[in-house]
Amino acid sequence: MSIDTADAILRTGESQLSLPLLHSTEGSDAYDVSKLLKETGRVTLDPGFVNTASCRSAITYIDGDAGILRYRGYPIEQLAEESTYLETAYLLIFGELPTEGQLAAWVDEITRHTFVHENVKRLMEAFRYDAHPMGMLISSVAALSTFYPDALRIDDAETRMIETKRLIAKVPTLAAWAYRHSRGFPYVYPQNDLGFTGNFLSMMFRMAEPRYVADPVLERALEVLFILHADHEQNCSASAMRSIGSSHVDPYSALSGAAAALYGPLHGGANEAVLRMLAEIGDVRHVPAYVERVKGGEVKLMGFGHRVYKNYDPRARIIKQTADSVFEVTGRNPLLDIALELERIALEDEYFVSRKLYPNVDFYSGLIYQALGLPVGMFPVMFAIPRTAGWLAQWLEGIVDPEQKIARPRQLYLGSDERDYVPIERRAAVEAASVA
Ligand code: CMC
Repeated sequence: MSIDTADAILRTGESQLSLPLLHSTEGSDAYDVSKLLKETGRVTLDPGFVNTASCRSAITYIDGDAGILRYRGYPIEQLAEESTYLETAYLLIFGELPTEGQLAAWVDEITRHTFVHENVKRLMEAFRYDAHPMGMLISSVAALSTFYPDALRIDDAETRMIETKRLIAKVPTLAAWAYRHSRGFPYVYPQNDLGFTGNFLSMMFRMAEPRYVADPVLERALEVLFILHADHEQNCSASAMRSIGSSHVDPYSALSGAAAALYGPLHGGANEAVLRMLAEIGDVRHVPAYVERVKGGEVKLMGFGHRVYKNYDPRARIIKQTADSVFEVTGRNPLLDIALELERIALEDEYFVSRKLYPNVDFYSGLIYQALGLPVGMFPVMFAIPRTAGWLAQWLEGIVDPEQKIARPRQLYLGSDERDYVPIERRAAVEAASVA
């Protein structure tokens, strides 16, 4: 990172301030405004942080115009083709692909941490029969902090690593149990001779059989979905993870907050919203009328558009291919035709073209989850399981970043200036006088 003559000069009345230009490896360079308030008494206003880098990061790179996504420099297409979720999680956390020995040890340790305390099970049993699984996941992840009070020692590298492994291992168990709860089925304990996704499918779907063996095509499809969802740089939930983590709370509490941020329909809850939208449209013949409602500003086309991608989301492209392999096993999802027609019309329509609105990761993922037999409420949970690795990688990077301070944005205050307190019995009279 160097400073050069391309610095910006900010003139404020008599004085001027140099804003050093910091160079990125790839993508947008950044003006350093860290001295702005001190030197000028002024702040920047940037709602939604559209123009603001909140940190320096070496984890994930996105080129939204070119439709590029890389973890630690590796293209998402290669990882989806060649890697496994746990290897990708290792890459995100440690920065390099593991050797054979490192991977075996990592997989072994994650596998040994998949069980949760029996009291967590009782906590989950206390939820109503129709509780949203994402609410159950968010709550039970937060509850884990009470089982691991040592996790507060966030300055200790070894503790950070133990909690990282615990979280990656236990979130699928909590997720599967949230599903079992919603179906009224007994919870299934982890089976540690299965792989990460195979074990998850077993905890989800095993009934009376002594051993549940998932279809290898579905197991691999889930592995690919998990790889694609593992990280996405400084999005809403990753920023929540860093922001909450910057208060030095334990990672369970921070990750619960990140999962809550993911839950919203503009973020990871979009996959659920897409399925509800496709079901509402109901028939391919109704697609043009729905598109008109979108263009009229009445509704949003869920699963379309992205703050960073102004091109086809590379994850959506891979998911579309994965969907084909899943449907060969499960049978075609009837909502697929509606989705394909929506995409076809939207990609030709001036409204979407001029705004650079393309399908994002959530447009096709829900169709796969539905083909796997999952209710829509589980879709954001399916996003949260793999994103756990990304949130932790972002949190670990932030904790050791010497530049990190507690997240505390400024504001442009537009409220009332100072005024005197009015006792309640005089308020009506004062109000009447001010209107007159
Ligand atoms: N349907 C219709 N119009 C849209 C959509 C959409 N899905 N997304 C954006 N627009 C319009 C928006 O109304 C605005 O139009 P105008 O310029 O006339 O006011 C223009 O496109 C720019 O949109 P924006 O709201 O400024 O874009 P943003 O960067 O603030 O929002 C977004 C990004 C993802 C929140 C938004 O595109 C959206 O709400 N999409 C639907 C929800 C969705 O699919 N979310 C999943 C995102 S990918 C998974 C993840 O990583 O979270």
